[in-house]
Amino acid sequence: MKKYFFIMVFIISIIGNAQYKPTKENLEAREWFENAKFGLFIHWGVYSVLGDGEWVMNNQNISINEYEKLPKFFNPTKYDPEKWVLMAKNAGMKYITITSRHHDGFSMFESKASDYNIVKKTPYGKDILKMLAEACSKHDIKLFFYYSQLDWYRDDYFPRGRTGNGIEGRGEGDWNNYINFMKLQLTELLTNYGPIGGIWFDGQWDQHDWDGKRFGKINVDFKLNEIYELIHRIQPSALIGSNHHLAPNAGEDFQMFEKDLPGKGTKDFATSEDDIGNLPLEVCETINGSWGFNLKDRKHKSEKELIQYLIKAAGYGSNLLLNVGPMPNGEIQDEHIRSLEKIGKWISKYGITIYNSRKGPVEPNDKYVSTRVKNKIYIHILDSSLKNISIDNFDEIIKSIKYFDSEVKVNYKKSASSLTINLNKDNMNEIDTIIELTLKS
Ligand code: GLC
Repeated sequence: MKKYFFIMVFIISIIGNAQYKPTKENLEAREWFENAKFGLFIHWGVYSVLGDGEWVMNNQNISINEYEKLPKFFNPTKYDPEKWVLMAKNAGMKYITITSRHHDGFSMFESKASDYNIVKKTPYGKDILKMLAEACSKHDIKLFFYYSQLDWYRDDYFPRGRTGNGIEGRGEGDWNNYINFMKLQLTELLTNYGPIGGIWFDGQWDQHDWDGKRFGKINVDFKLNEIYELIHRIQPSALIGSNHHLAPNAGEDFQMFEKDLPGKGTKDFATSEDDIGNLPLEVCETINGSWGFNLKDRKHKSEKELIQYLIKAAGYGSNLLLNVGPMPNGEIQDEHIRSLEKIGKWISKYGITIYNSRKGPVEPNDKYVSTRVKNKIYIHILDSSLKNISIDNFDEIIKSIKYFDSEVKVNYKKSASSLTINLNKDNMNEIDTIIELTLKS
């Protein structure tokens, strides 16, 4: 019986997948995305006023009535979207993904579907997404919208999920109404901001059973087919991804990994290796320890950690979406601006080994990874104490091999199926020693 059930599930998933045929524009957008390699994630909402992350409503059990006061304090007079866009661009980033509505249910854009939005409820009164979209299009940066499927505010997010249950004042409404509301808002996001890069969904996990180790069955119907179809109908090239931590669903165009290199399993909710599909990949990570602005977060990652994470992501064939949480006045913390500048400096020199690359032939590990661009393979050595490396199953034919920086020839041995490289300390550096292999084409 169990066997038949799995066969049925398998067949249904194949039929589901077969129904979604990405358009030509969509496939081109996917390729653009895979080549882009590096983006800026922005978590910004009225929660930033409290300086305690974007989960503050849940974590401090702030009631609906209390939380409704927050928008009144949100007045980011220092918000300068062009500054953000240039900051991202100078860091070598090709796209920005910003929270349009997070789990607190507050819309950071003008919405006819709900008055609980930035234009209606804050003294600032302007649509920050619109302003950002204009700056992005001026500077040729693609804009994606993060959109939460989980909502701690609305009555019609009912039945409720696993989180936000200590928040007082939540009502009981009609799930179909919630689905219609999301469709209206997504239509707005896809029509009022010009061509967008895509939609980054989050929160589906709230409605899955969870035993602390694995996600179980889902308890509501998010009507993904209808919603994904709507998005692709309005903008065929808009890419859809969802942070559900499971294998991709039909209709999704890229797969994301939260605080985890694909398949590494560094988080208990991490997507397992078996669930990695064949879509473009994206890893997201925080620049400190928080997504939304957190005043007391001191875990700012070092230049080395950040650059190495970008390299590692590329070595896993993935993009990196690196997050900042702007302050309530609209500025980004100095520490983070400085870190982004340092990444930008590095990437302006070594970006050729990252952009447009695909996963190289070396199995990625903590000490070294590889990327591939056409007939070049770049081995990135992240541990400067290494004396040599040995790569098995390497059957490419090498034309030349040198240190990328100094152009000094590398000492190596090649057998039929493996490659051993002897490293020379004088040509190495702390962050990333790049070895460039040119293959016979
Ligand atoms: C998690 C969190 C959320 C954050 C997201 C980013 O799903 O719930 O706050 O936006 O990760 O990856």
